[in-house]
Amino acid sequence: MGLAVLAVALLGGGAAACTTSGSDASPPTTGDRSTTTSSARPSTTTTEAPTTTTFPGQAPADVAPADPKVADVADPVFDGLGDPRIDVSHYAVEVTADPSKPGISGTVAITLQPRTAKALKSFTLDLKGPEVSEATIGKQAAKVSVDGDQITVTPAKALRPGKEVTLELRYAGTPEPGEFPALGVPVGWQADSLGGWFTMSEPSGTSTWVPVNDHPSDKATWTITLDTPKAVTGIANGRLTSSKVVGDRRQWVWTTDHPMASYLVLAAMGDYDLVQREGPGDVQVVFAFPKGVPEASRKGFDELDAILAFYSDTFGAYPDDDAGAIVVATSLGLALETQTRPLFGLDAVGDGKTWALAHEVAHQWFGDAVSPERWSDLWLNEGFATYADWLYRAHLGEDIDVLASADAGREPSGLAVTDPQAAATFDGSVYEGGARALHALRRTIGDDAFFEVLRTWFAEHDGGNATTAEFEALAEQVSGKDLKAFFTAWLDAPKQPQMPG
Ligand code: ARG
Ligand code: ZN
Repeated sequence: MGLAVLAVALLGGGAAACTTSGSDASPPTTGDRSTTTSSARPSTTTTEAPTTTTFPGQAPADVAPADPKVADVADPVFDGLGDPRIDVSHYAVEVTADPSKPGISGTVAITLQPRTAKALKSFTLDLKGPEVSEATIGKQAAKVSVDGDQITVTPAKALRPGKEVTLELRYAGTPEPGEFPALGVPVGWQADSLGGWFTMSEPSGTSTWVPVNDHPSDKATWTITLDTPKAVTGIANGRLTSSKVVGDRRQWVWTTDHPMASYLVLAAMGDYDLVQREGPGDVQVVFAFPKGVPEASRKGFDELDAILAFYSDTFGAYPDDDAGAIVVATSLGLALETQTRPLFGLDAVGDGKTWALAHEVAHQWFGDAVSPERWSDLWLNEGFATYADWLYRAHLGEDIDVLASADAGREPSGLAVTDPQAAATFDGSVYEGGARALHALRRTIGDDAFFEVLRTWFAEHDGGNATTAEFEALAEQVSGKDLKAFFTAWLDAPKQPQMPG
């Protein structure tokens, strides 16, 4: 089937709103929750908001040094991801793949240092499918063993705290995308419907194609090289820094200089047009459209500049040097805020308007630049992006009080905004519930204080991570009000109060 035909067929079904899925789906299996027994870090909600600054990728300074025995980040929502004992600053990954073949091979150089107080004898990375054949740190071989969806790396010499090393891994195999239970979508490296590959990785799919410390609390910069047949286009986050032809292959090198949470990493290859143009300021815009997506369907992305301008005025200057979007050749039923280049399916485009564009672009500030410290802080992504979208629609003339009214969006599920179960299922309470909490905060502290809170929030955490407790503390500090009862009622209770007038 031709792509143009496919696009039309898919659009007929109508895209589900970004916020529709999840509430009636069965919860994911949570397995053994290890938050209380193996927590490497005390819960940040019980501590004062940290006053020291943290550098990108570093956990807040108020957390205890990681326990050398604890191999997973303690997270009440998605357990078993990431290793709190290491801090990765950069991934340089090179992946060779062919549209027609399921297998991939790759190398990755991971620049990291221990976060432990004592020398670190071994650590883990997440990896689902491919297998490591070679591992070195410096010139010395490291030992690698497989344990389910993780590998354990044991360097020849224990790693010294604070000393950066580069781990080089060679690997190959077939990615094993997981199913995201609440949404019924594959997560990770997957086929599009025209024989290409793409990744949609929130929350844990990046480990299907590269060994990674797969938790948002460890942000890093990335260089992603996609080695494809010469006629195929490879796309990732950030800026295309080269696309060299070597024999019958082409190496597409994409670079992101702004720290990125691993679930936001994008890779795609297939028959794409890359459309490049100047954006606002020095921002470079690159769109990737599957060949055959008609001009009319690409038009909706023209709105990007207006959205970027509105958010930059409202929240602070766009956090990145690169922007754009990718449309993948399949129907997704959802979109994802992959950093610099959010991901859409063919079902999101088509009528001169791109569904969820304003939502995914808002995530570039909230979620991507300011990332959750734990998955339980998911409303800091989804509530904020939903509210930003409402602000944009109000800017275009809609009534925000109507958008924020209790019967807008999904049926309330009865889960509190900060309930880990709500985050685990991408429930409507983290989307509309979170957005309503923000609107109520605005009505409670007034417009001036509210927008100062949002701007300060972004400015203080751009490039790093943040927690709900830190947001609450900031709102109290900026407004000068005691908001404990307010946040308990709006974020922690299952049924939200009446919207203040
Ligand atoms: N973060 C996406 C959004 O903008 C939702 C993606 C959910 N899908 C997934 N595979 N996690 O709302
Ligand atoms: Zn979202």
